[in-house]
Amino acid sequence: MKSLILVFCLAQLWGCHAVSPPMIGLLYREVNCDDPESEQAAMVAMDYLNKNLFRGYKHALNRIEKVKVWPRRPFGEVFEMELDTLETTCHALDPTPAANCSVRPLVEHAVEGDCDFRVLKQAGQFTVLSVKCDSSPDSREDLKKMCPDCPVLAPLNHTKVVHAADAALKAFNTQTNGSYFQLVELTRANIGYLSRTTYVEFAMAATDCAAQEVTDPTKCNLLAEKQYGFCKGTVTEIPRQEKVSVTCTVFPPQTQPDNSPVASPPPATLLAAPEALGPLPPLPANRAHHDLRYFLMGTASVESASGEAGKAPSVVQPSVPVAAGPVVHPCPGRYRHFKV
Ligand SMILES: *[C@@H]1O[C@H](CO)[C@@H](O)[C@H](O)[C@H]1NC(C)=O
Ligand SMILES: *[C@@H]1O[C@H](CO)[C@@H](O)[C@H](O)[C@H]1NC(C)=O
Ligand SMILES: *[C@@H]1O[C@H](CO)[C@@H](O)[C@H](O)[C@H]1NC(C)=O
Repeated sequence: MKSLILVFCLAQLWGCHAVSPPMIGLLYREVNCDDPESEQAAMVAMDYLNKNLFRGYKHALNRIEKVKVWPRRPFGEVFEMELDTLETTCHALDPTPAANCSVRPLVEHAVEGDCDFRVLKQAGQFTVLSVKCDSSPDSREDLKKMCPDCPVLAPLNHTKVVHAADAALKAFNTQTNGSYFQLVELTRANIGYLSRTTYVEFAMAATDCAAQEVTDPTKCNLLAEKQYGFCKGTVTEIPRQEKVSVTCTVFPPQTQPDNSPVASPPPATLLAAPEALGPLPPLPANRAHHDLRYFLMGTASVESASGEAGKAPSVVQPSVPVAAGPVVHPCPGRYRHFKV
């Protein structure tokens, strides 16, 4: 008797599944993750991500994980995509195009990003509608397994890290004949070789003081025409003293008035807060990397602008799931760099 009931229930469930998709309109189109159309949408999405980052590092596409293409009323299609990204070596304020930035290798403790995008395709043009990202460093265990001597990312508020950034910036300001530069943010650090060597990467911004004449740095103000730089510094402790080395790149001044917050934490309203996400927890002082979820500004609001304007009758295109030949796992797509 029991088994009969079970069979009956299964039949009901099966019935429900077979009927429900058309009824609630699950009419998305499946697209291969490595299809040129998916790649085009992903490129537009990555471009959007890098243009809207104001802290941390630019990211590169590593893999298209999922794509669903939904019809949109009255016109167009919405690509709902999940993208895996990797941190590059270019700071967000670096004008180098993201395509020219190299991906941070695993041995430097790689950071992986995970992004959900909605990208509108209309009249052959792609526009980002919304984005939600977060990121995390490769696990310590995995890094140590692959490379036992590789230093792991250090907390950015570690005393040695903060000191190394100060010392490196001071060394830069001592050697330069130009503006006095202020710290914008520490972006990466590690403490290596018997804890005696601290490596830091940080962004800096030019002030209206001359580096060689500054007496009270607190009286220096950032230039109206923002000028940023990015540095890599190493501080090595040797008995009774330390050796400081630093190399910096100063970027051309930004002639456009820019709205990227500098030298102070970004106001809460600038942080990405998509409806579903709710308020973000405070930025932890002991973070070791720049989590994308704190530094990707807002969501695009193209949807309401173009979507509601034309009150054309909403005809959903009869989109049928593509079934050309045997479909063999169209997603996730290939890795462009490496698996983290
Ligand atoms: C980026 O790479 C392209 C192609 O390799 C090159 O032509 C271009 O000069 C590079 N741009 C920068 C800013 O490095
Ligand atoms: C700063 O100026 C001095 C004297 O003019 C010059 O010798 C030195 O090379 C300059 N330093 C830099 C970093 O340009
Ligand atoms: C770093 O931040 C964490 C979390 O806020 C805090 O507990 C810790 O004391 C800080 N460390 C230093 C050296 O300031």
